[in-house]
Amino acid sequence: MARHLITSALPYINGIKHLGNLVGSQLPADLYARYLRARGHEVMFICATDEHGTPAELAAAKTGEAVADYCKRMHAVQSELARGFGLSFDHYGRSSSPQNHALTQHFAGKLADNGLIREVEERQVYSIADGRFLPDRYIEGTCPNCGYDKARGDQCENCTKQLDPTDLIDPRSAISGSRDLEVRTTKHLYLRQSALKDEIAAWIDSKSDWPILTTSIARKWLNDGDGLQDRGITRDLDWGVPVKRGTEPWPGMEGKVFYVWFDAPIEYIAATAELADKLGEPDAFWRRWWRLDEGAEDVTYTQFMGKDNVPFHTLSFPATIIGSGEPWKMVDYIKSFNYLTYDGGQFSTSQGRGVFMDHALELLPADYWRWWLLSHAPESGDSEFTWENFQTSVNKDLADVLGNFVSRVTKFARSKFGETVPEGGDWGGRERALVADLAERLRAYEGFLDHREVRKAAAELRGIWVLGNEYLQAAAPWATFKTDPHAAAMQTRLGLNLIRLYAILSQPFVPFTSEAMLEAMQTGDRDWPADIGAALTILPPGHAFTVPEVLFAKITDEQRAEWEERFKGVRS
Ligand code: MF3
Ligand code: ZN
Repeated sequence: MARHLITSALPYINGIKHLGNLVGSQLPADLYARYLRARGHEVMFICATDEHGTPAELAAAKTGEAVADYCKRMHAVQSELARGFGLSFDHYGRSSSPQNHALTQHFAGKLADNGLIREVEERQVYSIADGRFLPDRYIEGTCPNCGYDKARGDQCENCTKQLDPTDLIDPRSAISGSRDLEVRTTKHLYLRQSALKDEIAAWIDSKSDWPILTTSIARKWLNDGDGLQDRGITRDLDWGVPVKRGTEPWPGMEGKVFYVWFDAPIEYIAATAELADKLGEPDAFWRRWWRLDEGAEDVTYTQFMGKDNVPFHTLSFPATIIGSGEPWKMVDYIKSFNYLTYDGGQFSTSQGRGVFMDHALELLPADYWRWWLLSHAPESGDSEFTWENFQTSVNKDLADVLGNFVSRVTKFARSKFGETVPEGGDWGGRERALVADLAERLRAYEGFLDHREVRKAAAELRGIWVLGNEYLQAAAPWATFKTDPHAAAMQTRLGLNLIRLYAILSQPFVPFTSEAMLEAMQTGDRDWPADIGAALTILPPGHAFTVPEVLFAKITDEQRAEWEERFKGVRS
């Protein structure tokens, strides 16, 4: 039994996430966590909402709520959706928690003690009408690069150019629209990342097993990007973690907060502390996951994220950790994903294009989405969601292969033998061959999951389901029954045991269906099979079972056409 720490990138608090967000971090992280738990490992699976920064403040301003109220409400909404999708976090925290305030201030204090923070006089846009500075997205104007007239202070959405608020032409406040702006000087803290460049480069070089996607992005930023220049880690905002040096005030920094990308990854640690507090456990509870000097030496830590998050997790967050000079656990493996596109274009939160988590669950049960998303995870390149592809996957893989198997076996068993596992007959060559085939595929399946190869694992699982159907087709107990009822009983008993086995193996992908299958087999034995032959005799003759409701309904052409129309633009 090993110890695994798993984190998913923290979703921004503003708004409900779309399926592309889900498949890029939370869902594959959940697959991995569920798999490792099923194998008997000790798992700590952490996620949280990322609540600071200008997007949160602006979203709250739009609804007219105080930002703290907005975040609290949206956290509850996102938690509920996470539950709906079966995301099995050990804790779903909030980056605005007191624990994260304290830890963020702690890290900043250590960095300062180690001479890695410098104070910089900066020129920033100040809005006289709003009585405040306008960092990042608080300012809008015309892009100097492409002329787009709604470019934001940090980036032009049209041409993607990274901008500085002072670059914008005809700038105006995103809060009040006021053009009564001036440039004022203000003092900010900079993290001296450049001083850590060699150490971080060596650390990345030591990760020879990381996916190419992760290391190529990291190296690009390290070598020719501006990834490891010193960066500002404070902002003139109200909402955020107040700038302090540990627990002490930071002279000259009154009224300022840390930049969202400084405090957000620290929340991975803080969320674990939130859990300890929630459970009434001492600090040792969370520190044994995070401190090398307090038990985390034997922890394997895996992070899941979309590719746009890679620079922050390979460079900036490690700079914070390494710079602290303290023995914090660093990530062992970063699994990153490309993008999921929607029907020939991008998912768009602002335009409401594509399927969002709430709508998805209104249409169909979570497992339909989980299966499609995971079996099409954008690992080696971008992948595309189309309704046709989704319909095909659900109808073929889930309904025709897994669902049909369960339904045929249980209905046949009930009609010929009643609702108990039938007795009699012995395994022959066909059964032994099936066991051997299953054992081989199971080894491959475990290997892919151990290596976090999501699509390959899905294909292997499907192959395992197919073996059951092929067996059923070849053994044909409905025909055998007429000439050799004992053999038919044996075949049916094997089929019922296969349902239990499939429930266990499929649980990381389709947990709700897995639960329904185990319930139908009336068993709580979920032990991961060490030996397939033995696992297929767990349900003994005489054991009661029931025929479950249809596990997967097929998606009709009419439904597909209706949904295609409904989700093509402008979210209602
Ligand atoms: N909220 C960010 C995003 O959605 C991810 C933050 S990950 C963290 O892109 F680790 F920094 F929190
Ligand atoms: Zn532009």
